Amino acid sequence: MRMYDIIMKKRNGAELTEEEIQYFIEGYTKGEVPDYQVSALMMAIFFRKMTQRETLSLTMAMAHSGDMLDLSAIHGVKVDKHSTGGVGDKTSLALAPMVAACGIPVAKMSGRGLGHTGGTIDKLESFPGFSTALTRQRFIDNVNRIGIAIMGQTADLAPADKKLYALRDVTATVDNMSLIASSIMSKKLAAGADAIVLDVKTGSGAFMKAEADARALAEEMVQIGRNAGRKTYAVISDMDQPLGLAVGNALEVKEAVATLRGEGPEDFMELCLTLGSLMLIAGGKTDSAEEARQMLKGVIADGSALNRLAVFVEAQGGDRRAVYDTELLPKAEILHPILAPADGFIDHIICDEVGICSLLLGGGRETLHSGIDLSVGLVLCKKAGDAVRKGDILAVIHANDEKKAQEAQKRYLAACRITQAPPEKRPLIKAIID
Ligand code: URA
Repeated sequence: MRMYDIIMKKRNGAELTEEEIQYFIEGYTKGEVPDYQVSALMMAIFFRKMTQRETLSLTMAMAHSGDMLDLSAIHGVKVDKHSTGGVGDKTSLALAPMVAACGIPVAKMSGRGLGHTGGTIDKLESFPGFSTALTRQRFIDNVNRIGIAIMGQTADLAPADKKLYALRDVTATVDNMSLIASSIMSKKLAAGADAIVLDVKTGSGAFMKAEADARALAEEMVQIGRNAGRKTYAVISDMDQPLGLAVGNALEVKEAVATLRGEGPEDFMELCLTLGSLMLIAGGKTDSAEEARQMLKGVIADGSALNRLAVFVEAQGGDRRAVYDTELLPKAEILHPILAPADGFIDHIICDEVGICSLLLGGGRETLHSGIDLSVGLVLCKKAGDAVRKGDILAVIHANDEKKAQEAQKRYLAACRITQAPPEKRPLIKAIID
């Protein structure tokens, strides 16, 4: 078999066999197939797409490209959650401690920023000293001891996805249904959780812009999960504007902490309650969504979810004091307000553009090996539907470079549309597939 022929076959629109998919995944994982050939194949898949059969073969080949984690040493039903990626999506940071504080073990594998979206690991690294590079034993011990552990993808867990994820991030090949489904589900299957709750985003800030595509992705992933014997649920949620108000690594951590204090934005809280209820139901805590919501609200009201975040941060080497004093998180030097150019209503904010503003400020990677500035980003003051007067602050840019702040402002203003009539309200939760 030759990689060249596989690229050519897909480029010409034919269906790849299971053996061909396995050949390229094995070769890439071992370092025998170079990045440039895999980049070409990713681009061919992007344009030619994959059938359901190919997607399933790709998922299984990636899941088995390394070890399959055995979490049977963890007591109880282990629940994992994964988002398809969005702007301002800091859900795991608040949700994992909420669910753990309710008594359901959260054993989670997370990723870094991808395309215009941020990643949980980058965000968590805003806590000085925090590390997701846990040994398997420590991961299991932490879940048993404190009910929660988040690890990054190690060299031996779905390593094919680890390499492909980083490669897709810098080759404009992220937003393809089969590549997203196989990337997410291979990790989830390899990471060993018994139940998986998927947050599938749709709208201008999501990889799947159209709701029908998001639904197809959700259904495909739920099917893959169930075929592999895992309880799998999906929520389709709106990503047509940033979730909450903060976009950028440390800024999002600050907002997640505020949410655990009961002071977070309404949309973000609602999403946490919806996903959290499914996680409690999947974990066997209750079968009533209403009771689950009350439990989740209870652990916020009594402070136990916030305390669980502090214990978790400390258990992974981070400075727990930053949970109680967010001034200790990385802070940008320049605060640059963006002012409304006219009276009216915010009709919409092109969401992926807001993610790109954060990247332009230094919050995302430019190449495979570049670093990121954890302190930069934006905090929105107005969201879709809000009335504005000329000169009101639309958002505040947090930057460390005046030129980049100017560039982000220009881009933000172009992305934010002000009209004379208020827009129709878009529901946050579009569907639940259970
Ligand atoms: N999240 C992932 O883990 N992979 C993708 O491809 C997209 C979102």
